[in-house]
Amino acid sequence: MPRLTLLLLGLLGWILVGCSSEQTELAFPDGFLFGTAIAGFQGEMGCPSEAADSCEDRASDWYQWVTSSEIISEKGMHQSAEPPSDGPGHWELYAQDYALARDKLGANAFRLSIEWSRIFPSSTVGLSGHEALKQAASAAALKRYHQMFAALKQRGLRPLVTLNHYTLPLWIHDGVACHKDLSTCTKRGWLDSKLILAEITKYAAFVAREFGGEVDHWITLNEPFAVVLPGYLMPTEVRVNPPGLTLRTKEARAALVTMIEAHAKMYDALQGADKLDADGDGAATHIGIAYSVAPTAPRDPADPLDVSGAQDVSYLLNEVFFEAICAGKLDDGLNRKPQARPDLARLDFIGVNYYETVTVDGVASAPFPSLSPLFTVNPFTLTHTANTPRGIYDALKLLKKYNKPVIITENGNIDPKDDGSTSTYLVRHLFWLKRAMDEGIEVQGYLYWSFVDNYEWNHGFGMRFGLFGIDTRDPQKKRVPRKGVATFREVAASGRLSRELLEAHLTADEQQLLPWN
Ligand code: FCB
Repeated sequence: MPRLTLLLLGLLGWILVGCSSEQTELAFPDGFLFGTAIAGFQGEMGCPSEAADSCEDRASDWYQWVTSSEIISEKGMHQSAEPPSDGPGHWELYAQDYALARDKLGANAFRLSIEWSRIFPSSTVGLSGHEALKQAASAAALKRYHQMFAALKQRGLRPLVTLNHYTLPLWIHDGVACHKDLSTCTKRGWLDSKLILAEITKYAAFVAREFGGEVDHWITLNEPFAVVLPGYLMPTEVRVNPPGLTLRTKEARAALVTMIEAHAKMYDALQGADKLDADGDGAATHIGIAYSVAPTAPRDPADPLDVSGAQDVSYLLNEVFFEAICAGKLDDGLNRKPQARPDLARLDFIGVNYYETVTVDGVASAPFPSLSPLFTVNPFTLTHTANTPRGIYDALKLLKKYNKPVIITENGNIDPKDDGSTSTYLVRHLFWLKRAMDEGIEVQGYLYWSFVDNYEWNHGFGMRFGLFGIDTRDPQKKRVPRKGVATFREVAASGRLSRELLEAHLTADEQQLLPWN
């Protein structure tokens, strides 16, 4: 090797070693997405001046559910009784919100959802083809979503769009009637498998064709287990989803399998109908799912029942769905005996919603074998612990075997008092995220839940996750920045966690893991 080349190589080595010993920050890769997430039902309503008729979407099962006096007055349904129409009014204030996201948060991405019930407030059964569906679609809703995507583009924010964030049109699901009597209700949502699969596929294809020139990142479903568990198995004060039924094990399993099938069909529909590369990266679609991944741990690591219980719960909550949609193995008996279903293996990226870890007490035999012989725990005794930053690292490690890029599609803190906890929450979670990335996991973005305080399902406005707060009584719905805004901006605008930020927020044990310590 010529002398000069050797000299240059030596110089390069010296620069690299020299630089790393002086490293004073953790840098995210170029193009990393930083942004926030929100969902239509939770954030759209409550417009300052737009007429209620266009601002409010009353055509979804969730709207019916949270405004039903019968459900509100039923004790075990844990409803806030607050109206979603007191919300932050994103339907009207979208442009100002995107300006804030860019200017105050330094964001380059924004996750939002399209509401199926807004686009198709009445049934699409019997309709086929884009033109027929366009006739049936709400022209006002289509126009507004086009305006939103144009406003995002104008501000350099990449849209990540969820097609189904829990809510279903009322013509698909009458949650109140099904709550009262599942055997007689006629709109059974995820339980009317044939109907919902056919119609949600049409909806996905329609939306992909309509908005494909503006959107590349699609998210089919949000948190399937949050539909299944608090909908059919164990509604608790933590979460109740319509139809709010307890221990309907057969239905829980059926709903889960239908959601797996729905994801795969929606994937094919999106890919088939969106041929336009909106952001010029060479791909017309990147299709994922937003999935709540919750690492589990045995209550007592020395107790074999707790250990196997934790493994079983993790298999059910964190693996069954991914085994189907990544590996094409469907375990519809929930008994670790999957069938080959290559037609279900459809996923470009994994969207991780990370909030909590779960501690498990095992029991000797499955209390609900008709749900799963593997569920060797009493589900009502699971302990959920929020704000456990290391869990985001554990969650990513759990998913490594699927070998898909990850986007953190939600992670967020309840911070109504603006006590500074969100800054610590952000820095610690991003630190553990970066650690997983440094160990070889491809993470493409981080989206914080949420941009602004919004309607937290059965809790109404009782749980406030916004980087920006609102006073629900303020007719203008002014966005009031909390302390987390400045911290988010510092990281997002620079793409880095600085030494100062890390040392201000990490625990002493975490600081030991910093490369310069
Ligand atoms: C997630 C949901 C989201 C929001 C946050 C706090 O489970 O996806 O809509 O409610 O929790």
